[in-house]
Amino acid sequence: MLTVENVDCGYGRLQVLRDLSMEVAGGAVGLFGPNGAGKTTLINAIMGINRVTAGSITFEGRGIHNRPTHEIVHGGIALVPQERELFPGMTVLENLRIGAEQVPHARDRGEETLETVFGYFPILRERTKQLAGTMSGGQQRMLAVGRALMALPRLLILDEPSLGLQPSIVHELFTILGEMKEHVAVLVTEQNVRESLRTVDRGYVLENGRIVLRGTADELANDPEVERSYLGL
Ligand SMILES: Nc1ncnc2c1ncn2[C@@H]1O[C@H](COP(=O)(O)OP(=O)(O)OP(=O)(O)O)[C@@H](O)[C@H]1O
Ligand SMILES: [Mg+2]
Repeated sequence: MLTVENVDCGYGRLQVLRDLSMEVAGGAVGLFGPNGAGKTTLINAIMGINRVTAGSITFEGRGIHNRPTHEIVHGGIALVPQERELFPGMTVLENLRIGAEQVPHARDRGEETLETVFGYFPILRERTKQLAGTMSGGQQRMLAVGRALMALPRLLILDEPSLGLQPSIVHELFTILGEMKEHVAVLVTEQNVRESLRTVDRGYVLENGRIVLRGTADELANDPEVERSYLGL
């Protein structure tokens, strides 16, 4: 569904991604790696936020690299960015509705999709009138995921969703992602490899802008290098 082939990407003269290839064929895929490895750079290249200088990115058979972000979102990919972009002074419901605004077919099915989102995150139904900025960090994260779902993506990308959350909330969030991946393909970048490996089907390890390891969740969980570097054994 998503294929990244031989991509180079960076910032000015700083090249970050080098000849990077990976794919999402469905289910949930994890993208792991230390700070500065290039995870966000790759996500932003997929979303058309970063310019790709070599290689190609295709989604459902169409080339999307260096296309405008709104076109990529229309095409069926939604992002929950690393820096959450909620509107803190707007209510939960307003934030969710905005998620459907950019995509005409999602706007038409907004009420129906709201029910789906409330099914995943019942707390959001209870808090529809609350201002987003007054909710806890975990609830805001769930709202950010809900808002992305409102665009009816076929691929949902999450950039470090566990960042700054308590372990119990991280666990809950990954459990919900596990339900979600039955309905929408998921690409998730994470430093919390242990939690992610419960949920993802496959994963990639990125270091210095290159994929250094790829495999199923089981293969990665049993890889001595992954254990040593990421599972803290
Ligand atoms: N806007 C930017 N301008 C210049 N350099 C950048 C920019 N964003 C990231 N970089 C650099 O690109 C490299 C990769 O950063 P990136 O944010 O993609 O890593 P990451 O894997 O997402 O890390 P983290 O886990 O901290 O989010 C780093 O060396 C970083 O300093
Ligand atoms: Mg990042």
